[in-house]
Amino acid sequence: MANFPLLAPILAIESSCDETACAILTPEGEVLAETVHTQADHAALGGVVPEIAARAHLGLLPTILTETLAKAALSLGDIGAFAACTGPGLIGGLIVGSNYAKGLAVALDRPFIAVNHIEAHALTARLPGISTAEIKFPYLLLLVSGGHCQCVAVHGVGAYQKLGGTIDDAAGEAFDKVAKLLGLGWPGGPALEKLAREGRGDAVALPRPLMGRAGCDFSFSGLKTAVARQIAPYGMDALPRAVAADIAASFQRSVCDVIADRVRHAMAMLPQAQSLVVAGGVAANQMIRASLEQIAHEAGVPFVAPPLRLCTDNAVMVGWAALETLKAYHEAGVELADGIPVAPRPRWPLEEVAAPTDLVTS
Ligand code: KG4
Ligand code: ZN
Repeated sequence: MANFPLLAPILAIESSCDETACAILTPEGEVLAETVHTQADHAALGGVVPEIAARAHLGLLPTILTETLAKAALSLGDIGAFAACTGPGLIGGLIVGSNYAKGLAVALDRPFIAVNHIEAHALTARLPGISTAEIKFPYLLLLVSGGHCQCVAVHGVGAYQKLGGTIDDAAGEAFDKVAKLLGLGWPGGPALEKLAREGRGDAVALPRPLMGRAGCDFSFSGLKTAVARQIAPYGMDALPRAVAADIAASFQRSVCDVIADRVRHAMAMLPQAQSLVVAGGVAANQMIRASLEQIAHEAGVPFVAPPLRLCTDNAVMVGWAALETLKAYHEAGVELADGIPVAPRPRWPLEEVAAPTDLVTS
């Protein structure tokens, strides 16, 4: 079994939703190769079907692994450790990806490191090359994707505190559902943002759920219902493009206002925050991005938005989180015999991620 710190590259797998991804990083975090495959079938089905996604991961992983090793000009024997996301996410995909990585680790007598998906998003900002400044703890993470919507205080590796999250839909899910109501394709976020450019953000009065309330929880389902009510008189097929554009722009403005309000509250809950970090597919939205930048500016802290390919689901973040974790354990003087084993779990709250000091020395 390899000792720590690692002397050889780490290979990581991500398969918690509908991205099948593999990456290889040096022990210092330099990305040697990465491959992300988004399962396109789900676009035709209007969303992710868990069972189809799991089977697709199984079919795709051998090819994606071979492709990633070839890009890095490495063979499996050159890999020093294997990592995979084991939760939270769709259980079928998690079982496929993590067992695949674990199987390779056992066969090659290397450690296996289980990584929490949200933790991986949270630590991406610290990947070498993302920011010119060092991203110091603590910082505030806003994770806004199709499956997640939460504000997290990142105090250190293995030390996370969820400050607030959605009580119903995630922000990306709201974009997707409203886009569907407007007859746009899936995923809906990019199409809705494009249509919104043709409309006026103040044209349609829409609610701002939970805005002004204490804390930093989110709610988007009422907003979606309000949009549905606006569309109902026309019927989807007879919705004039100008009206659809006004609804799209007004919806986007509303989501943006809500996110800005919630993040301001979250920043107030973590006054010692050293930076504001965003992750998740919704971070692609220009209006939302600009308003987060403004909030960070007002708070006098840097705004860090990793490049989009690292904001959305990928395996680089899984490999980097595993490296950060190994380093933290090593610095805490904890020797890991078999890496970090965590069985796949659909729910894995961040607070339950073990910190180096939690682990029994072996
Ligand atoms: O992080 P991601 O790729 O996958 C997960 O959900 O885990 O995020 C995808 C989500 C989708 O809901 C998509 O509609 C949304 O991010 N999204 C956007 C934009 N681009 C992607 N939402 C708003 N504006 C965008 N430009
Ligand atoms: Zn994600």
